[in-house]
Amino acid sequence: MTELDLDRTAAGLRHELVEHLAAEGQVTDPEWRAAVQDVPRHEFAPRFYVMTDAPGMTTYVPISPELVGTEAWLRKVYSDETLITQFDGCEIDWSDPQPIRGASPTSSSTLPSLVVQMLEALDADAEATVTEYGTGTGYSSALMCHRFGAGQVTSVETDPGVAARARAALERCGYTPRLVVGNGLAGADRTDRAARTIATMGVRGIPWAWLRETQPGGLIVATLRGWLRSLGLVRLVVEDGQRATGRFLAGSAFMMARQQEAPANLGMLPGDDDGKVRETPHGPEVLRMPDSGFVAQLAMPNARTFDMPADDGALRTYVLDAANESFAILSRDGDGWTVREGGPVSLWGEVERSLALWHAAGAPTPTKFGVSVEPDRQRIWLEDAADGPSWWLPVVPGA
Ligand SMILES: C[S@@+](CC[C@H](N)C(=O)[O-])C[C@H]1O[C@@H](n2cnc3c(N)ncnc32)[C@H](O)[C@@H]1O
Repeated sequence: MTELDLDRTAAGLRHELVEHLAAEGQVTDPEWRAAVQDVPRHEFAPRFYVMTDAPGMTTYVPISPELVGTEAWLRKVYSDETLITQFDGCEIDWSDPQPIRGASPTSSSTLPSLVVQMLEALDADAEATVTEYGTGTGYSSALMCHRFGAGQVTSVETDPGVAARARAALERCGYTPRLVVGNGLAGADRTDRAARTIATMGVRGIPWAWLRETQPGGLIVATLRGWLRSLGLVRLVVEDGQRATGRFLAGSAFMMARQQEAPANLGMLPGDDDGKVRETPHGPEVLRMPDSGFVAQLAMPNARTFDMPADDGALRTYVLDAANESFAILSRDGDGWTVREGGPVSLWGEVERSLALWHAAGAPTPTKFGVSVEPDRQRIWLEDAADGPSWWLPVVPGA
């Protein structure tokens, strides 16, 4: 394919993508529509991996013009899919790319529908200044440069190699935003305050630095997540440098900020005789179902879970909290469930209590929850910031 043909084919595929996003109601603002139409995503994703939907273990397959042909590569680039560009914080070996299993994505170009949803949620006019956390490939930074002008965009990336590739791709497209290489949890080292802050990585709580670097009345759009699952997209209005309040907008599942990933070591596993056994009305399915899983994540902010077969072959679900050395092990018991718990905190008791509050409120979806950032703590509340039930987020004051 000649360069002219490539540009023409890419522009046509971008048009199809924009039409698709518009038909699905995922892009409504003409300015963001124009940005998706104009910004060449293929400059930001010359080669990448995508997840396959084959049954069994999650598998990622490599895509590049050399591997699948230029047109098939472009079709993938302009599909509404996440294009993964790094696993486990390591560079991909593109000399002999193979399918990848059992690895965790650590950098990508997020699927366009989610990027645009977040950009629209910024509710920003053309004069807005913006800080982005998680530059990644640079594609979302480019969309913002198109909309606001590169002089108004700052983007922070923690991984130097990822940041260097993003810088080169942005420059190829004629965009020179302020790019910062460093841990975005500590802010963007701004001398002013941005009107808008957006994060395309998951965080366990809203970093206070983001409040300090956002104007009063400005907005923060970010994804809160825990080690059990993602909580979803939130939009907060900043009151001052220490306080912000907002609500969950929708589900979204970004990779966790690197500095907040769960420790590799799970800690000591409980022995067969540790803890006390009792019946419980809830089995491990409450962890896996979308809305009850959200509530369980709130109830156990530091917990992690995995399944392991017992000696008799029956599967058990372990829930461990290394912060306080508490555990809960769920086992099938006839038609019901038992839980064996130990440690200072009744982890499964917390889940039961939170699910009872949630059921009493009519089992609402996560969009009925909100988040409040205060000078020394952060909490998620249900329905009403002042009177509704609430749960603390696992954040360190002043961080
Ligand atoms: C989903 S990707 C970003 C997608 C990107 N906005 C795009 O359009 O290509 C998340 C990025 O966040 C970066 N990241 C993780 N922790 C970070 C941190 N503490 N500060 C800044 N960037 C971070 C990762 O290295 C990764 O590149």
